[in-house]
Amino acid sequence: MNGAPTPPVNLQAYEALAAERLPRMVYDYYAGGANDEILLRESRTAWDALRIRYRVLRDVSHRDLSVTIEGHRLDWPVIVAPMAFQQMATPEGEVATARATAAAGSGMILSTLSNRTIEDVRAASNGMVWFQLYIYRDRGITAELVRRAERAGCTGLVLTVDTPILGRRERDLLNGFHVPPEFPAPNLGVDMRSTLGAQSDMSSALAQFILGHWDAGIAWQDLAWLQSITSLPIYVKGVVRGDDALLALEHGAAGVIVSNHGGRQLDTAVPTARALGEVADAMAGRGTLLVDGGVRRGTDVLKALAMGAQAVLLGRPILWGLAAGGEAGARRVLQLLRDEVDLAFALAGVRSPAEATRDLLA
Ligand SMILES: Cc1cc2nc3c(=O)[nH]c(=O)nc-3n(C[C@H](O)[C@H](O)[C@H](O)COP(=O)(O)O)c2cc1C
Repeated sequence: MNGAPTPPVNLQAYEALAAERLPRMVYDYYAGGANDEILLRESRTAWDALRIRYRVLRDVSHRDLSVTIEGHRLDWPVIVAPMAFQQMATPEGEVATARATAAAGSGMILSTLSNRTIEDVRAASNGMVWFQLYIYRDRGITAELVRRAERAGCTGLVLTVDTPILGRRERDLLNGFHVPPEFPAPNLGVDMRSTLGAQSDMSSALAQFILGHWDAGIAWQDLAWLQSITSLPIYVKGVVRGDDALLALEHGAAGVIVSNHGGRQLDTAVPTARALGEVADAMAGRGTLLVDGGVRRGTDVLKALAMGAQAVLLGRPILWGLAAGGEAGARRVLQLLRDEVDLAFALAGVRSPAEATRDLLA
């Protein structure tokens, strides 16, 4: 033994490393969930509860994990979820994430609440970059963000619909969470700080900003409006019911992301591992179907595909990778997960995502 630290052996170990390195306030903002964090915990245990009916003797010596999502070929079926304020994890922020995901043959969704501009992030990746947005009371701000995303070369828009109002995140209240002033929010469309003045309690400031600017009154017809101002495909993120997924398709969405915001909005909502099957059945192969929430193991990805998702979004572990080692850290997190997905495929007798079918689940 030479005393060198053992490299993290799984995604959970990256979280432990990040917890050591990040200021408590930042770690808690990233890690936390709403209220009692019941959904946050169940987001994981719901994947764990599914059992795999693996197949044997199927010659798994060659495996191909690639998928094509709306014309984008990804080397493997994982896309990085939109997550706010990534400069709090590493100085390069979302640009580091863009480089890491492109290098890993994965895709990325950029949050409206990012610290780096749409243009810088898009320029840092030759891979798939979609832009995530909310609908503002002032529709002109939303329209301008859409134009910027289009001009920058983003190829999809993600409309997040589970956040009409910010969830109650008690860790942030206890820590007096605030975004330190050195971190800008250049894609917000409006200046968060000038709108709010100098507040020290930015947790409520963020909630107040959302109350003041994002439109809690949006409804299905606003999806049609969004479609009328862009030719980009729109994915509706935050759906957990089959009937809502059908409404999304009826209103012109290209696809649906089964998500509950990583347990940060409505506590005790249904975990996505339990919602996905219903949504997949309702969509019956129409439109793109993605899922996120608590995916930490290669077997989770296999289970999501078996249930009907075409790819999976990965959230917090990317922040842990960024905190542990910037772009290289995020890259290592993606490589670890990719190796696990490949192993899960091999051991389950699955050679390609197309072979990940519902009968694999017990
Ligand atoms: C720190 C943090 C910030 C987030 N910010 C956004 C956001 O700006 N927009 C959005 O649609 N979802 C946001 N999410 C939700 C993620 O996109 C995703 O749904 C969730 O994190 C997936 O769960 P996981 O972290 O367990 O993988 C955020 C999640 C975290 C942890």
